[in-house]
Amino acid sequence: MNDNVVWHAHQVSVDQRAQQKNQQPAVIWFTGLSGAGKSTLANALDLALFKAGHHTFLLDGDNVRHGLNKDLGFSDKDRVENIRRIGEISKLLVDAGLIVSTAFISPFRADRKMVRSLLEPGQFIEVFVDAPLETCESRDPKGLYEKARAGIIKDFTGISSPYEVPESPEVYVDTKQNTVEACIETIMQALHDRGVMSDNPEATSQ
Ligand code: ADX
Repeated sequence: MNDNVVWHAHQVSVDQRAQQKNQQPAVIWFTGLSGAGKSTLANALDLALFKAGHHTFLLDGDNVRHGLNKDLGFSDKDRVENIRRIGEISKLLVDAGLIVSTAFISPFRADRKMVRSLLEPGQFIEVFVDAPLETCESRDPKGLYEKARAGIIKDFTGISSPYEVPESPEVYVDTKQNTVEACIETIMQALHDRGVMSDNPEATSQ
């Protein structure tokens, strides 16, 4: 870092921004294999929170890789940088007072731990979206597993690149055995238990 860059104290505090929104900001970090259901669940959760009157944002791997991270590929080094940038963005959004849902494979434990360390205790809620590789492969929503098996795509998670299973995620959902609705209910209950989803007087049902 450049020694001539000096950190500025903000006039509006992080707590004030959260208080104005009447919520406890957090990152709901969905991790799992491609095709496990991260984007589906993150989208559904974001919608449910939004409808309940919360101030939210959604960050999704495929979309972020079209913009901010379009210079990154899928080597280990690039995946580390991908998650580092997402972690920093998530932290900024939490400081803005938002409840952020993120959907990234984020295959490495050390990177998920690093993002957790950027946030205050309780602000990082890891959701392990689990489904057997065979299930993800049979879903193959984007036809990528087929290409990976054929060797057309290299370094594909679960096939030719590792996925490190979370050891103690805050929330575990099995998308082979459960519907989207049931998974969302499990996640919402966990958020409620952790004080993230409080009863919000601004709640609207749209
Ligand atoms: S991460 O590993 O760096 O966290 P990220 O979630 O951003 O990955 O992007 C994963 C998405 O990119 C997948 O859902 C898939 O659509 C696409 N993709 C393209 N190539 C690969 C690859 N080699 N491995 C995994 N996903 C890939």
